[in-house]
Amino acid sequence: MDPQAIGNARSPGHRPLPARRLAGVLDPVIPRVGAWLRQRPDALSLAQGMVNWGPPAAVAEAVQAALAAGDGSAALHRYGPMEGDEELLEAVRIELQAHQGLDLEGTALLVTAGSNMAFNALAQVILDPGDEVILPLPWYFNHVMAVQLAAGVPVGVPAGLVPDPERLAAAITPRTRAIVTVSPANPSGVVIPGEVLAAINQLCAERGLFHISDEAYAAFVHGSVPHHPPGQIRGSGSHTITLHSLSKAYGMAGWRLGHAAVPRQLLAGLAKVQDTVMICPPRITQRAALAALAAGPAWIAPRVASLLERRALVLEAVASARSQGLPITLPIVPDGAFYALLSCGTPLSGEALVERLVLDHGVAALPGEAFGLGGGESPSLLRLSYGMLEPPLLGEALDRLLVGIKELLG
Ligand SMILES: Cc1ncc(COP(=O)(O)O)c(C=O)c1O
Repeated sequence: MDPQAIGNARSPGHRPLPARRLAGVLDPVIPRVGAWLRQRPDALSLAQGMVNWGPPAAVAEAVQAALAAGDGSAALHRYGPMEGDEELLEAVRIELQAHQGLDLEGTALLVTAGSNMAFNALAQVILDPGDEVILPLPWYFNHVMAVQLAAGVPVGVPAGLVPDPERLAAAITPRTRAIVTVSPANPSGVVIPGEVLAAINQLCAERGLFHISDEAYAAFVHGSVPHHPPGQIRGSGSHTITLHSLSKAYGMAGWRLGHAAVPRQLLAGLAKVQDTVMICPPRITQRAALAALAAGPAWIAPRVASLLERRALVLEAVASARSQGLPITLPIVPDGAFYALLSCGTPLSGEALVERLVLDHGVAALPGEAFGLGGGESPSLLRLSYGMLEPPLLGEALDRLLVGIKELLG
């Protein structure tokens, strides 16, 4: 038998190896940047996609109360419902209907350990090997990886930072199963206008595709374009998937809690994945999430507002460096999330630029390549996150960044 036919490299007496198909899955960028950061412990990070605040105080209280409840806490120790505990599902339903205005007709709700897990489960459920998912560029790298892990094909489409529905339509093939949008966007900070999302949603409806709307940054809008979820469109529930995360707005990245509103016809498939991977979402985390959702938008609003000053610092630092002749630009003014894309006229790749910035200048960002941008002759691109550093440290990080770019330009 041809040894290649057995899938992975297996030969008697040798270490068993991972399957070959893993070689076709994108390498995660964060551990690479993390390795450089370990060599420069004094470095300031504009790389991390997190906020610097922790969860509402009510979260710790709810967890302590749950643990202290004696016999009353017994449910915490047992497996719970696959889709999440009833109480949390109800709170999520209220959040999505009352605060986000979604039409949940025809949808089911699913609680997951972070919204990445929901996306991964969806990729497993909607894709047969070779099926395609359209990811407008810049893409979010974990979407790519999930599609690849499901033996699907991520199709990065250069449709503009506000994706042009016509260019997305032109990328549809008989193998396309879904179009993904991320708004407010990672890495560009763009908030996609409601009418554009509606056009993409309509395109999906007409062509029999799922519209996966990743709304991890729904609460982070700083400009005049409001967050307008496509799931608000009446009757969109049979083809629209809305993903939410508690990681960002509630400062709960390490707690791992997200949720998905999915077309009901996907639930049986998702149940297979969820049952295999997690059996049920961690129940103590669900109690925490319940307390966080109860704190709600009133708790989030001042924290998101505190990012405005930081966003202004980023814009001012770039404008001032430009006025002094540094060849850098923001391809678009970032109005959402806590990111900005920075285009730098250096001869280096984004990845080589980040390595030099961390090791020689003590400041980290993420390279554009991680988001499917740059490469070849194009200028190096960086994603800056202003979520983790407060002024004055943010100012110091930006100084290091701009001095670093200037020096690298010689
Ligand atoms: C667009 C997007 N979706 C999802 C996630 C991950 O969310 P979670 O922590 O809920 O898995 C991130 C994190 O950076 C993100 O940027």
